[in-house]
Amino acid sequence: MERAQTGTPAPAIKPLLLRRMRSEHVEAVAEIEARSYPDAWPLESFSEWLELAACGANVLVEPSQSDGKKDTVAGFILYEVVRKRMHIADVAVSPDFRRRGVASDLIRHVMKMGRKLHKVRVTLEVRKSNASAISLYKHLGFVKKRTIKAYYEDGEDGLFMEVTL
Ligand SMILES: CC(C)(COP(=O)(O)OP(=O)(O)OC[C@H]1O[C@@H](n2cnc3c(N)ncnc32)[C@H](O)[C@@H]1OP(=O)(O)O)[C@@H](O)C(=O)NCCC(=O)NCCS
Repeated sequence: MERAQTGTPAPAIKPLLLRRMRSEHVEAVAEIEARSYPDAWPLESFSEWLELAACGANVLVEPSQSDGKKDTVAGFILYEVVRKRMHIADVAVSPDFRRRGVASDLIRHVMKMGRKLHKVRVTLEVRKSNASAISLYKHLGFVKKRTIKAYYEDGEDGLFMEVTL
C-alpha cells in the first residue's frame, strides 16, 4: 500500500559530529543532565570534570547551520581511566535525539580509546530500575558482574556492568 502524501517533508537527519567536551558545551550538557535524571549533577560538576587529569568527556553535536549560532549538543559521555580499565561515569542523550544511536556512538568511542590505550575493559554502574540504559549496555556487549546494594543515595541498588575489550 502506498503511503499517504501529507505534503510536509520529514525533517532531514543531519550527521552528528564527535567533539571533545569543552567549557562552551557545559551549559547544554547540564541541561541534558537535568532533563535525564531526577538527581541530576549540577552544572559546576561538568566544569570541574573538564579540569581533572585522567578524566575525559565527549559530546556529539549537530553543527549549527548559521554563523554565530552554537552547535546543538545531542548527547555526552564522561569517563575516566582507572588502572587497566575505562570507567564511564555518566552518559545521557537529549530526549530530542534518543533512539538514533547517539549513546551507542559515544560508548563505542570510549571502547575504541580503551583499545588504543591497551585497557582491558570498560565498566560502569547503572540503576537496577533503568531498563533503557541496561538494554543499551547489553546491546553493546556489556554483562552484569555484580549488584551493589544501596549504591544510590535514595537506597536503590546499582548494577556493576563491564565489557571486555
Ligand atoms: C539510556 C540512553 C543513554 C540511551 O540513549 P540513546 O542514544 O537513545 O541510545 P541508542 O539510540 O544508542 O540505543 C541503542 C540501543 O539501546 C537499546 N535502547 C536504547 N534506549 C532504549 C529504550 N528506551 N528502551 C529499550 N531499549 C533501548 C536499544 O536496543 C537500542 O537499539 P534500537 O534503537 O535499534 O532498538 C538515553 O535514553 C538517556 O539519556 N537516558 C537518560 C539518562 C540515562 O539513563 N543514562 C544512563 C545512566 S547509567
